[in-house]
Amino acid sequence: MATTRALEGRTAIVTGASRGIGRAIALLFADAGADVVLVARTQSTLDDVFEQVSRSGGRAVAVAADLGLPETPADVAARALSEFGRIDVLVNNAGGNSFMVPLADMRFSGWEKTMRLNLDSTVRMIQAVLPTMTEQASGSIINVSSVTGLRGSPLMSHYGAAKAAVISLTQSLAIELGTTGVRANALVPGWIATDLTDFLRDDEGLEHSLLDRVPMKRWGRPQEIAEGALFLAGDASSFMTGQSLILDGGLSVNP
Ligand SMILES: NC(=O)c1ccc[n+]([C@@H]2O[C@H](COP(=O)([O-])OP(=O)(O)OC[C@H]3O[C@@H](n4cnc5c(N)ncnc54)[C@H](OP(=O)(O)O)[C@@H]3O)[C@@H](O)[C@H]2O)c1
Repeated sequence: MATTRALEGRTAIVTGASRGIGRAIALLFADAGADVVLVARTQSTLDDVFEQVSRSGGRAVAVAADLGLPETPADVAARALSEFGRIDVLVNNAGGNSFMVPLADMRFSGWEKTMRLNLDSTVRMIQAVLPTMTEQASGSIINVSSVTGLRGSPLMSHYGAAKAAVISLTQSLAIELGTTGVRANALVPGWIATDLTDFLRDDEGLEHSLLDRVPMKRWGRPQEIAEGALFLAGDASSFMTGQSLILDGGLSVNP
C-alpha cells in the first residue's frame, strides 16, 4: 500500500504486469496515483489487473502483446501516448527463464530466446520511450535484473548473462542520459515467490539448498520488490541513476 500519492499525474508503463512482480508493481504504482499501461501476452490475466486498478479508482490500459516481437515496444509507447499523453516511468520487468542446462549442451535457439525476452525487449522499450522522456526532460527507467546477473549462474548462464547485460546497459544509459532529466536504474531481486519460481518450490531439496544461502532464510514477496520500484520511479530517488537496487534477503553478500 502506497503511503503517499508519489506518482500522481504520471504515466508508467509496466511490462509483464499480469502476474508476479510486475503485477505488484502495477498495482502499487496505481495506488500511488500513476496511470498505468499494463503489458503482457495473456489478455485474461491482464484484464484482472486492469479491473483491480479500476475498482480502486485508478486509470489503466491493458495492452496484450508479445515483447519477443520487435514491433511491440513501439506499439506500447504509442498506446501510452494516445491514452495518457505522456510517459514518465518505464519498468522493463517482463522476463524470465524457462530451462536449466550446461552451456556446453545449450541449443543456440534457447540462448537467443532468453536474450530476446530479457535483453532485446528491454533495449527496444527504452528506445521507444526515450524520445518522449527526453522531450519532457524527465523520466525514470527501471530495468529488472536478477541476482543471477551479479555472479556465475551454473545451468543458467544464458539467463545470468542476459541479466548482467541489463545492469551494464543501465549504467551506460545513465551516463549517456546524464543531464537530460531522465534517470535509469536496475532493480535486482533475489529469490521471489512467483509463478516463475514455482518449479523450485516443488523440489524440496532444491528449495532448501537455495534458501539456505539466503541470510533471511525465506522467499521474497512481489510486494517487497514493488516497494523498491516505487522508490526508483518517484522523486524520492531523484539523485540516483546508473545504480542497482538489490532486494535479496542478503543473498548477494553471503560469501
Ligand atoms: N521470481 C524471481 O525469483 C525473480 C528473481 C530475479 C529476477 N526476476 C525477474 O523479475 C521479472 C518478473 O519475474 P516474475 O517472477 O514476476 O515472473 P512471472 O511470474 O513469470 O511473470 C512474468 C510476467 O511477464 C510476462 N511475460 C512473459 N513473457 C512475455 C512476453 N514475451 N511478452 C510480454 N510479456 C511477457 C508474463 O505474462 P504472459 O505470460 O501473459 O505474457 C507475466 O506477466 C523477470 O524479469 C524476472 O527475470 C525474478
